[in-house]
Order: sequence, then structure tokens, then C-alpha cells
Amino acid sequence: MTDLGRFITLEGGEGTGKSTLIAGLEGALSARGHDVVVTREPGGTKLAEAVRNLALHPPEDQAWSPLAHALLMNTSRDDHLRNLIRPALARGSWVICDRFADSTRAYQSIDGVTPEDLLAIEAIVVGDTRPDLTLILDAAPNALAERRHQRNVSDVFERKATEFHERVRSAFLEIAESEPERCVVLDALGSPDQVLTAALNAIDTRLDPS
Ligand code: TYD
Repeated sequence: MTDLGRFITLEGGEGTGKSTLIAGLEGALSARGHDVVVTREPGGTKLAEAVRNLALHPPEDQAWSPLAHALLMNTSRDDHLRNLIRPALARGSWVICDRFADSTRAYQSIDGVTPEDLLAIEAIVVGDTRPDLTLILDAAPNALAERRHQRNVSDVFERKATEFHERVRSAFLEIAESEPERCVVLDALGSPDQVLTAALNAIDTRLDPS
């Protein structure tokens, strides 16, 4: 755990309600007197947002290889860590990040990059800046389909089929199972208030906030 701030990441498939939970957490943790920094991946800094655009929206008819895509995610992460996350933690802020390294483990392994390669790259880029707590929003993809279709998002990931979303779900649940001390799985089908309450309980139990 970091000495000063706290590093909380949110993970889960598309349409699981990460943004709603993040807004709730930002309000609740700020009300407790913490300085809260909300950010996202890929992105979060100027350079990382530029890489995000390149990664998620390549020129038409072009596609990154799975390895190149994994490297782009880590390229943006390196800048994000150096110029936003680590400085914020060092000055005592609580950082809430919408997706982080677990998304690379999940999505890029599904794309075919080996877990060994992904973990090796992750170790180089993330180093000791591991999340203190990772909240994984979980729900059956078919239950989320309705929510997903209501969103006006058109990146390459959103167009993939339910089977893909099942694989994403399994990948996150596997991560949660392999690192239970860091990860907490939350039922994404609860009401916004229920999900926020469960997340705050996890924070109180795991992070012992003052
Ligand atoms: P975004 O529009 O932020 O999706 P969401 O609202 O679901 O978070 O797009 C980010 C997409 O990038 C999402 O489909 C997951 C994918 N992604 C990766 O493939 N690898 C990564 O390391 C990260 C951070 C995201």
C-alpha cells in the first residue's frame, strides 16, 4: 500500500456502470476530506490521451496487431503513471482510475498476447505502483446488453459480440480469484446506491481510511 494517497482502480466490461460508481465515489471520498483525483485509461494525461486516440481509433481499414495494441496501452500508462498517478499519490491524493493494468491483462490476452508477455511488460511499466484496491464490476453480458446498446459509443471494442463480453467477464473474475487481497467483485446489476455502498464497504474494510 502507498504511504500517503490511495490508488483505487475500477475494472469491468463495457456498460457495467463504472462511470456512475466513480462519480459516487468521488463525492463520498471528497466528503470525507480526501483530495480525490479521477482519471481513466487509456488516457489521463495529454500524451496518454493522444495514444488512446491512436489505439482505439486507428485510421480506417487499419488495425494494430495485438502486441502493438498492448504496447500502446502500456505506452499511455507509462506517461499516466509518471505525470499524473505517482505525483498525485505522493502528495496524498486518492486516485480513482477507470481501468488500469487489469484491462490490459484481460483484453489483450483475449486478443492473443500471452499472459507471460503481458505480465512482463506490466512489471516494467507499473513497477511498484500497484493499485491498493481494485473494484471489479461484474454482471452477465446479456443482462448488460440493454444498457450497452443505449450508449452512443462506436469504438472497435463495442461492436464485438456477446461471446467476447463473456470472455472479458471470465478474465476479470480470474484476476479477482488470483489476487483476492487486492480485488473485490461487485454486483453491477445493483442500483447505483447499492453498488456505491458495496464499494465504500470494500474501501473501509481494505484501506482503513482515516
Ligand atoms: P472506453 O470507451 O473507455 O470503454 P469503457 O467505457 O468500457 O471503459 O474504451 C476503452 C476500451 O479500451 C475498452 O473497450 C477496453 C479497452 N482497453 C484495452 O483493451 N486495454 C487496456 O489496457 C485498457 C485500459 C482498455
